[in-house]
Amino acid sequence: TGTTPIPGPPGLPLVGNAFAIDSELPLRTFQNFAEEYGEIYRLNLPAGPSVIVSSQALIHELCDETRFRKPVSGALVEVRNAVHDGLFTAREEETNWGVAHRILMPAFGPASIQGMFTEMHEIASQLALKWARHGPDAPIMVTDDFTRLTLDTLALCTMNFRFNSYYHDELHPFINAMGDFLTESGARAMRPSLTAFLYPHAARKYWDDIEILRQTAQGVLDTRRKHAAGRKDLLSVMLNGVDPKTGQKLSDSSIIDNLITFLIAGHETTSGLLSFTFYLLIKHRDAYQKAQEEVDNVIGKGPIKVEHINKLPYIAAVLRESLRLCPTIPIIARAAKEDTVIGGKYFVAKDQRLALLLAQSHLDPAVYGENAREFVPERMLDENFERLTKEYPDCWKPFGIGMRACIGRPFAWQEAVLVMAMLLQNFDFALDDPNYELHYKQTLTTKPKNFYMRATLRDGQT
Ligand code: HEM
Repeated sequence: TGTTPIPGPPGLPLVGNAFAIDSELPLRTFQNFAEEYGEIYRLNLPAGPSVIVSSQALIHELCDETRFRKPVSGALVEVRNAVHDGLFTAREEETNWGVAHRILMPAFGPASIQGMFTEMHEIASQLALKWARHGPDAPIMVTDDFTRLTLDTLALCTMNFRFNSYYHDELHPFINAMGDFLTESGARAMRPSLTAFLYPHAARKYWDDIEILRQTAQGVLDTRRKHAAGRKDLLSVMLNGVDPKTGQKLSDSSIIDNLITFLIAGHETTSGLLSFTFYLLIKHRDAYQKAQEEVDNVIGKGPIKVEHINKLPYIAAVLRESLRLCPTIPIIARAAKEDTVIGGKYFVAKDQRLALLLAQSHLDPAVYGENAREFVPERMLDENFERLTKEYPDCWKPFGIGMRACIGRPFAWQEAVLVMAMLLQNFDFALDDPNYELHYKQTLTTKPKNFYMRATLRDGQT
């Protein structure tokens, strides 16, 4: 047929390559194989054969939405038990996706996100206050405190609900339920379905957790209906918005699906981004200093305002470079709509699952050159970033593809820039253990593992 077989490591009969995968950090295995077999290889996994793709050129081809769609498989199928056809987990043919997408897109646009600035600022201030009070000798569990930040911010901005995570040692029951639910969703996806009866306790807790998630969201909805009092946020858009195309409104169940979806999709991703960024900055003092100087020059010692957010080009470059090296969603999936050939020579069957290894395509030397693995924010300054993404389209894809790309990107961006600015304005940071080197923890997203830092108030500040 003129096509070339897709290479890959030999597997065992029955189990294929399952035992080759590092169970704690599958990402590492995928990247190691990419180093060995190149931009495309196949693996036989319990869920079926997978084709793993990791060059800019091939990923660019897979971004063509006329030929490829987002499949919902693996852990996402399990997550659907709680959020059904909510935006993130909807299948291509489900009409609720379009209704919710059209109603919600404007609410996630720049103007609407700017309207959330005050609330984002309030939660960020709570974090800064906590670190100031704990003082320079207290090791900070970075990912935990950023996760409190992102969850509290999302809940406050999207539905006016306060988890108050900085005021309790114990996390809110909703947050625990969500964490356990996501972990168990991942575990269920790895277990052969025939063995499900071996885990009755886990199953009961799983469905109880889902109940907690949905009941809490229902409570928020009921309260809002009673006190509609003029608040304009995502929840009010969901309650009142009408789809311009179908004239439909969102059902209560669909609103609950999407409220929980925002919390799930938006918290670890943004918290991981902030955590990796602080690690990278602390390790690269020159970049750290430039970022801090920018904050001092543009904002000074006064309050941070919404107008400042787009006037911090170096911070923006730092965040882009951090998402390039450490994309918090390191792999996304696609599937061919029809039998096709990619890269001019590899046959891919209809519905074949394709894993897009962003963590590797973001290191493509054809795009990023010799120093592709180094942290160099300068290459991500506006003009350079524009040039790069024009010359090598889809070389930077941390927010996903096309129609199914991240709806929360402006939200995450404003929050991340604000938090970076506020923290650099007020503190100096150092590693708690000067010898710490980056380790990854992988769940549905990735974040640094066992990363502790210390925060010292800058001179003259109280
Ligand atoms: C989709 C990344 C923050 C809500 C996605 C996708 C990626 C992504 C890669 C596509 C997934 C796929 O193709 O399967 C990120 C990153 C974030 C972030 C790196 C932070 C740095 C947020 C926030 C929210 C959010 C804050 C909510 C407020 C969503 C939703 C989708 C999505 C609802 C599904 C969109 C659809 O399919 O219609 N995100 N995200 N994300 N994200 Fe984000």
